[in-house]
Amino acid sequence: MKYGYFDDRRKEYVIQTPDTPLPWINYLGSNQFFSLLSNTGGGYSFYRDAKLRRITRYRYNNVPNDIGSRFFYIKDQDEIWSPCYKPVKSKLDSYSCRHGMGYSIISGSRNSIVASITFFVPLEDNCELQHVTLTNEGDSKKSFDLFGVVEWCLWNAVDDAANYQRNLSIGEVEVENSVIYHKSEYRERRNHYGFYSVNADTCGFDTNRDSFLGADKDWSLPDRVRSGQSADSIASGWYPIASHQISISLEPGETKELVFILGYIENEKNDKWDLPNKINKTKAKEMISKYESLSSVNKAFSELAGYWEDLLSNYQVHSALPQLDRMVNIWNQYQCMATFNMSRSASYYETGTGRGMGFRDSCQDLLGFVHMIPEQARERIIDIASIQFEDGSTYHQYQPLTKQGNADIGGGFNDDPLWLIGCTTAYIRETGDMSILDEMVPFNNVKGTEKPLLEHLKRSVYYTINHKGPHNLPLIGRADWNDCLNLNCFSEEPGESFQTCENIDSKKAESIFIGAMFVKYAGEYADLCSRLGNTEEADYVNKEIQKMTEAIETSGWDGSWFLRAYDSYGDPVGSHICEEGQIYIEPQGFCVMAGIGIQNGNAKKALDSVEERLTTPYGIQLLNPCYTKYHINLGEITSYPPGYKENGGIFCHNNPWVSIAHTVIGQRNEAFESYKRISPAFTEEISDIHRTEPYVYSQMIAGREAPNYGEAKNSWLTGTASWSFVNVSQFILGIRADYDGLRIEPCLPDELNEITIIREFRDARFNIHINNRKTGKIQIMVDGEKIKGTLIPLIENKKLYTVEVDV
Ligand code: BGC
Ligand code: NOJ
Repeated sequence: MKYGYFDDRRKEYVIQTPDTPLPWINYLGSNQFFSLLSNTGGGYSFYRDAKLRRITRYRYNNVPNDIGSRFFYIKDQDEIWSPCYKPVKSKLDSYSCRHGMGYSIISGSRNSIVASITFFVPLEDNCELQHVTLTNEGDSKKSFDLFGVVEWCLWNAVDDAANYQRNLSIGEVEVENSVIYHKSEYRERRNHYGFYSVNADTCGFDTNRDSFLGADKDWSLPDRVRSGQSADSIASGWYPIASHQISISLEPGETKELVFILGYIENEKNDKWDLPNKINKTKAKEMISKYESLSSVNKAFSELAGYWEDLLSNYQVHSALPQLDRMVNIWNQYQCMATFNMSRSASYYETGTGRGMGFRDSCQDLLGFVHMIPEQARERIIDIASIQFEDGSTYHQYQPLTKQGNADIGGGFNDDPLWLIGCTTAYIRETGDMSILDEMVPFNNVKGTEKPLLEHLKRSVYYTINHKGPHNLPLIGRADWNDCLNLNCFSEEPGESFQTCENIDSKKAESIFIGAMFVKYAGEYADLCSRLGNTEEADYVNKEIQKMTEAIETSGWDGSWFLRAYDSYGDPVGSHICEEGQIYIEPQGFCVMAGIGIQNGNAKKALDSVEERLTTPYGIQLLNPCYTKYHINLGEITSYPPGYKENGGIFCHNNPWVSIAHTVIGQRNEAFESYKRISPAFTEEISDIHRTEPYVYSQMIAGREAPNYGEAKNSWLTGTASWSFVNVSQFILGIRADYDGLRIEPCLPDELNEITIIREFRDARFNIHINNRKTGKIQIMVDGEKIKGTLIPLIENKKLYTVEVDV
């Protein structure tokens, strides 16, 4: 069952009912000011850091859920309703929510009044604009009141939810005309304030929550809305809010438009005050006057559209499958940008108060956005590499505001260093910018330790070479990609972090997965060395790769699939001899991606085993059979009930690895089936089963063993976004950026007979037309000339390549 539809022309998903199974959200913002916005108006805003600069308040785990932090009310005689449905929840005559690229339009109507609100963050300013359109569709005059309200957060989101003994005495506001300023803590150490304005005269306001709601009341029926008379309250401590009341009258057919601004302003330390206790409002007033007129609001809105048009234009496909086109051209790329902006910090599953930027997450996310924002990708690579230690290991996370490694988590995740190679080579292949390898980058951000980025990559490679276990396979450390396979943790303490405790250091627990990563990424490093003329280093590393491949073939093969690991006792994990957890997905996908087992047929056998043992109609499970009891030697993975998360959930992130692996061995249809199974647009019809947004990937879908089989969780911020885009754009459709040109190796399923792709690459545009003759052989003509092989070399100053491909 569906709850809406894709409007591809407008690049929107249109939700037709407020009763989605879960709040279905969108992200607003592209720079420093961000908002989360659900289809019923829920969500919150922050400046740069969702924990430290939270502008509006959001309550987690609350019932009723998703109420806040922005509210609109219409009081039409005795009728009270919300255009976004919540918080009042009066029945609406019509409702829709259009989530688009960086904006959402929520519309509701009742008794002939149609209210439509366009929410967006303009490219250039730190604010959320709420453009409200009110129309009288009836045949008699309408007079009613509109209330627009926000609830302030006292800046630090953790403290705001915890430290009431202090917080309930610090709230301060100022009110001037139609603007309410939030200035808690501004008198002392903060140089920033928030404001909420409307470009109309108001007939009342409130800034004190209890005065507005009435003591002990909730947001669904505020006293001041019911009475139709604001209290003009000034908050002092307690719970500061900003409420504007505006009287509206509309003749039949008439429309009125209003613009509310939720803004964030920083002042210089010595320029904070106009008068004693009166904040310097100059910058706020500038912003307010900029958006005073509707034409400037509309201009900002069309600039936003242009920004997205531009980002998405680098890769566009046209096929006979609308689901494919809308994923590739719109939603998958859009989600990749959300992971760029948010990493894993703020979603409806990540509170914005926890994790910093993950090392491995950020490296992998980059694979999905590097073609859209190469300069920012470059900066990101340098930031990530700067938290590496001199021995090649690295902090697992860093804080976006300080860019320092996060000492609370530390390091010891032995897959981390190798991901750095993957993102660096992706960047160079996209841009041709080899100079990044000479960029001087510190270790652990310590001044004076700077070495060229290439040296960082080298240390990543040697870290693995120097940390092997009894089977000559890489030591796993605290965990590898699978955060929950904690082989040295042996935790018995409730609440102890599985990720950060190592109660033993066996020097024995090994990861076949890291072995496969090594083969792939040390290979990319060796390739770079050859390109730079350092054949000696390339030869040495290639020998190490050979050794690793042999170690995987002798000690990492279980007979029908690749083993996952050896635990601290030296026993295999992910083997048919195990009682539970006999086969894991990760090494099957990654070993084949790295080219292991292709000659001897093990690659095919491994993928057959995935099909037989792990594949469900909803996607591929992470492992099977699921663990039914806690295995202290395996860690967090066995803490989840069977079928959830890493314990045999359909962990979407590594499904594309299997799909890519299918393309590597030429299994065209299998690759596409695997792609479609978890692809949001292709699974839109089962929105009621998945329950999460049908326009973005979720991290996890409950596996067969779970009571809620097929139910998805953790939408938006997941590495599934970037890997799915890599899979479909580079392997299935087969257009890959390469050092010296564009590589074309489509692996199209039978159901796609022909496609066209427009790829903007470096300074040129490639118009590519592919005929799928199902031959498995690739023939390429560029501007009418047949070329040898699959690489279209770049020719200086050539701006347009017309490419005809037969496969
Ligand atoms: C989750 C993992 C996640 C990790 C982050 C675990 O509880 O299951 O998916 O990567 O926490 O620390
Ligand atoms: C989510 C984490 O963000 C990611 O780093 C990890 O690889 C997966 N979970 C699997 O555990």
